[in-house]
Amino acid sequence: MKDPDRPEQRRRTKVRTRSAAIIKSEGGVDKPKSSQNRSRKQSPDLTEDLTFVLSQKVVGQPAATKVIVPYVQMYQAGLSPEGRPVGVFLLLGPTGTGKTKTVEALAEVLHGSEKNVLKVDCGEFQMEHEVAKLIGAPPGYLGHRETQPMLTQQKLNAVTSEKCSLSLVLFDEIEKAAPSMTRLLLGVLDKGILRLGDNSAVNFEKSLVFLTSNLGAREMMRELNPDFGFQSVKVADRTDLTSKLQAIALVAVRKRFSPEFVNRIDCIITYQPLTPESLAAILDKHIVDLQNHVNTRLGNRSFTLDVPFDARQFLLQKGTSSEYGARELNRTIHRFLTQPLATLVASNQVAPGSRVWVEVAEGGEKLNIRTVESQAGAAMVNPTVLLVDDNRDLLHFLERLMANDGWTLLTAESATAAKRLVQEHQPNAALLDYMLPDGNGVELGVEFLQTSPQMLVIVMTGTILPPEEEALCEEHNFPVLRKPFLASDVMNQIRSRFTTASGAQRA
Ligand SMILES: Nc1ncnc2c1ncn2[C@@H]1O[C@H](COP(=O)(O)OP(=O)(O)O)[C@@H](O)[C@H]1O
Ligand SMILES: [Mg+2]
Repeated sequence: MKDPDRPEQRRRTKVRTRSAAIIKSEGGVDKPKSSQNRSRKQSPDLTEDLTFVLSQKVVGQPAATKVIVPYVQMYQAGLSPEGRPVGVFLLLGPTGTGKTKTVEALAEVLHGSEKNVLKVDCGEFQMEHEVAKLIGAPPGYLGHRETQPMLTQQKLNAVTSEKCSLSLVLFDEIEKAAPSMTRLLLGVLDKGILRLGDNSAVNFEKSLVFLTSNLGAREMMRELNPDFGFQSVKVADRTDLTSKLQAIALVAVRKRFSPEFVNRIDCIITYQPLTPESLAAILDKHIVDLQNHVNTRLGNRSFTLDVPFDARQFLLQKGTSSEYGARELNRTIHRFLTQPLATLVASNQVAPGSRVWVEVAEGGEKLNIRTVESQAGAAMVNPTVLLVDDNRDLLHFLERLMANDGWTLLTAESATAAKRLVQEHQPNAALLDYMLPDGNGVELGVEFLQTSPQMLVIVMTGTILPPEEEALCEEHNFPVLRKPFLASDVMNQIRSRFTTASGAQRA
């Protein structure tokens, strides 16, 4: 794979040579690094951090992440060139492979919310006269006061945050826009300035501009599905396929856009069709999200969702589509899992604290969702809980509270002591403070899971977790309790996991 242009070496002269670096994604899942080989340094390198967190959110497109992150870093170092946007990226590839998601994920990491993106749906600007909506009509035109331009400096500033002053601008499905829009964009890409109808200027020098397009998607489909039947692509053929898709995308781009336009793009990234492994990772993420959603929305009425292998295979089989990518998987999860589950909850058919079991129905055409009754023997009303914190007062308080409920308690003030207790007693749950005198609670939790995969790990923290640790918590489904928290929060977290319907009546 070619390296992207080093941003600092970008030429800003008018006669830029073909500067767009062509990047291909390698396909396959970007494996999260294990906690061991991520060093325990206190102030993690920002680039590594951002790359890691982004690749957790956008699965199987490692090249996209690798290309975009250096531009963010360059901006944060104050080294972005003036007179143009910080970076301009054209994201190509089949539908539902994560193009739009990449920009949303970046917004979440930089600004704390996916919504911090100034998004222009180019489909709304297919006619020449509609482009006026974007910049507002010039004065003197009838009704020019009523046309509020969509792209104003104010709107651009509104998508930044206290955390970061870089704005993300997304022109989605750019091939649909009228030609005059492409001309407008040319000015933005070239000088970082957009002139509005009233002659005021919008400055994009603190913006990353993303253009997405399905150009060439139909031809890519033909390449993926030559017989129009379902055909899975063998791993050995993937590298070959990657370069074919990329070539198809480039031909389509050159056909549609002028060379000047293409030359002003810093990187063209071709997204790859998602592999079965990537789809499986996306499904797992959705199920973890669903469980977290249940926990936060239902509080002490929450329950544990159990989606075993067979049910996951069912969802993957129904949700795999080379035409719609992960969108089909999202629809399938919604139809077969989220919606029926919502119906059960709304009609009070799920007791708080119960285990909800999902299985493939006879005939293999749908999923059955049922709560596991108490007589199933899964009840574990008195779990053994390990508490690790160097705050003795908190430790003793929780210890008394849990002992009152008949739970068995183990306490430790350091990671080393905690490890010994886990080896000796194999507790069912561990409540770990993030900042320990000799380590970090999140990494300790990950370590515990390697020997006791069934253990419920809950992280307590007095500060905001660094993104890397937050991603680990998300990946491993660790609930995070921000101090101060209510004792009932922690008790409920543990109860909802270890008590079945009958036990839950006590809750
Ligand atoms: N690579 C991916 N990693 C994680 N989720 C993805 C990925 N690709 C698609 N999805 C899921 O599918 C949905 C649609 O993806 P999107 O990024 O809008 O596709 P497109 O490539 O057509 O812009 C997203 O909201 C997300 O839930
Ligand atoms: Mg999209």
